[in-house]
Amino acid sequence: MTATDSNSAELLPLSKNLYPNYRQPELVMVRGDGAEMWDLSGKRYLDLYAGIAVNTLGHAHPAIVSAISDQAASLMHVSNYYYTDKNLQLAEVLCRLAGMSRALFCNSGTEAIEALLKLSRRHFWNQGDKNRHRVIAFEKSFHGRTLGALTATGQAGYREGFGPIGGVTHVPFGDADAVSAAMGPDVAAILVEPIQGEGGVRPAPDGFLATLRKLADDHGALLIFDEVQTGVGRTGSFLAAHHFGVKADAVALAKALGGGVPIGAMLCQEKLADALPPGSHGSTFGGNPLCSAVALAVLRTLEKDDLMGQAKTKGEWLATKLTALQKKHPKHVAATRGIGLLQAVELADTVDARSVLGSLREKGLLLTLAGGQSLRFSPCLTVTTEQLGEGVDIVDQVLGELS
Ligand SMILES: Cc1ncc(COP(=O)(O)O)c(C=O)c1O
Repeated sequence: MTATDSNSAELLPLSKNLYPNYRQPELVMVRGDGAEMWDLSGKRYLDLYAGIAVNTLGHAHPAIVSAISDQAASLMHVSNYYYTDKNLQLAEVLCRLAGMSRALFCNSGTEAIEALLKLSRRHFWNQGDKNRHRVIAFEKSFHGRTLGALTATGQAGYREGFGPIGGVTHVPFGDADAVSAAMGPDVAAILVEPIQGEGGVRPAPDGFLATLRKLADDHGALLIFDEVQTGVGRTGSFLAAHHFGVKADAVALAKALGGGVPIGAMLCQEKLADALPPGSHGSTFGGNPLCSAVALAVLRTLEKDDLMGQAKTKGEWLATKLTALQKKHPKHVAATRGIGLLQAVELADTVDARSVLGSLREKGLLLTLAGGQSLRFSPCLTVTTEQLGEGVDIVDQVLGELS
């Protein structure tokens, strides 16, 4: 059964009208259920990437389906001229879970980062400190693709051809001395992913975030976290920063927050509540009741079903299996790493990672690449250990078939 009466032969030629900035294979996806997905031909896939760490509750979860249909039948959009019940409730639950005080809503991760960057600069500007605008960010980081977020993204490939952009100093991730040397009276903020996601699933080394906290405090700068990929329970705690025991002044969330609908959030501590006064920043769609209702359903399900606890135990189970995989294929696997349900298998430089990804897909497993050579697992938090095991077996098979 498929959800459309068209066939691939009719649909695929229509791709001539799509802007060709992605590399889609010749497949049309039509239906999903939990961690499974089907294409138009009826072929079933095991989805262990969840729309790049987005579909927190899996495909077609009843809590999300009802949240969408109930909200669409009552009130879908009013913009930010008025409060809505769902938006108010979402802000309250989100701030409680993240240990923050204020929430500003937007539509994507890159927009949440823009809000963080604007908040940082404007905070000091409001205090008459007009020269504090530089940001320290990290090599191999990814913060999004709008010009502001791109400036912070520490991978040349994403920035190529879009210059001139500036105002950010990039230093090696994990190198506290380099951060210290880069600090100065013009630094507004240190921006960091507690686990670099697109950079290849690289957790911050022990003590690094605590050192950043101290350096920011010593220099009167802000410490801001990008938890767009790591937040909302994926790593087994609500924020990945909770594993490291370090609190940021502000944090960006998106992806998993909406469970599939587009919503992002910038959360901050009370001391920053006046940094962006009315008129200084905003969004027509940000925090609309439809996306807020879905995000609220995601957070309530996360708590009710203890999905954070599940992410921890299933993540540990997966990590053990991936370590065994490395032992079995030492020639092809360089490393495995991750926390909770964000895990990576870094392939040796001699392996064509993109072709491995294609072979996995042919055998019915959907993963993504991170950092060029790493196969990234970012499944829904409702995934079963049987499904994770099935995925690991397919990777095992494909690695076994490499010459
Ligand atoms: C850590 C991080 N920050 C920001 C972004 C940008 O988010 P979006 O694609 O929703 O704009 C991403 C997306 O992958 C991300 O992983």
